[in-house]
Amino acid sequence: MKNSQETVGRNSTTITGFILLGFSDIPSLQHLFFSVFLVTYIVTLAGNLLIIVLTLADPALHIPMYFFLRNLSFLEMCYTSVNVPKMLGNLFSGDKAISFIGCAMQTYFSFFLGGSECFLLAFMAYDRYVAICKPLHYPVVMNRKVSTGLAAGSWLSGLLMSFGHTSMVFTLPFCRSHEINHFFCDIPPLLKLACGDISRYEMAVFIMALFFVIFPFMLILMSYVCIISTILRMPSGEGRRKSFSTCSSHLMVVTLFYGAACIMYLKPNSSYSPDTDKFLSLFYMVITPMLNPIIYSLRNKEVKGAFWRMVQKRRFH
Ligand SMILES: *[C@@H]1O[C@H](CO)[C@@H](O)[C@H](O)[C@H]1NC(C)=O
Repeated sequence: MKNSQETVGRNSTTITGFILLGFSDIPSLQHLFFSVFLVTYIVTLAGNLLIIVLTLADPALHIPMYFFLRNLSFLEMCYTSVNVPKMLGNLFSGDKAISFIGCAMQTYFSFFLGGSECFLLAFMAYDRYVAICKPLHYPVVMNRKVSTGLAAGSWLSGLLMSFGHTSMVFTLPFCRSHEINHFFCDIPPLLKLACGDISRYEMAVFIMALFFVIFPFMLILMSYVCIISTILRMPSGEGRRKSFSTCSSHLMVVTLFYGAACIMYLKPNSSYSPDTDKFLSLFYMVITPMLNPIIYSLRNKEVKGAFWRMVQKRRFH
């Protein structure tokens, strides 16, 4: 009797939660992981907050390029905050459980913010394209209305895409196991737990990833082809250096983000290895959000200038 009840419970997919295995296969490193991720998380929040404060406070940075950068920093703060605090909690307490709703929320917000970032990075490239290749049209093409509209568009597209993804995955029957071999509820490890025919979902996931990675990536590529050919045709070395310095930080950030995203979501399924996936996810979930403010503050003269102006103001007050 008891047995049959259990079977019924399973078949009607009354899942109340999942177990996030995380890095539990290397128990001796739990404390080291906890300390490293805690420090990384604090540096990420502080660095991105600094960018937000600087771009708001300094009048020299009140141009669309820094409006987009502020939006990106805000997005990255949200992005790491979706998964890292939970991961830190799990590492600290050893309790690896996550509720079904909690897991769905993690997936939803990760894909929402990740998808928005794809488009935001593309619009940032477009902004540099207009500024460098069509400098006379720049004030008209990239006015306040257009730049807020583009930013809002990237948030909205991520929101819709993630809704589709998440509702598809979380209506699958999870009857195989409830142990996710990952440190947050990402779609590829979740699909491993689903039973029934998931090939159609995998196809849909692939198509959506294609749209959110390939389309913005093409926009970025086209922008940079124009930017680089314009820069190369500039007569003075000084002008060349100046134009390139405004987009080199963005180019580095784009390379980091798309490099990790392409490897993670566009590789064929047969090459699935949980350990590689975990480390790749760590890279774009924990490392890139920390690197972005560092890249922008070390490489960008205007941001550095704004920083020292703020420090000096503080000192003389
Ligand atoms: C990012 O862009 C959106 C849409 O334009 C805007 O509502 C929001 O205030 C911006 N966020 C920051 C931190 O600038």
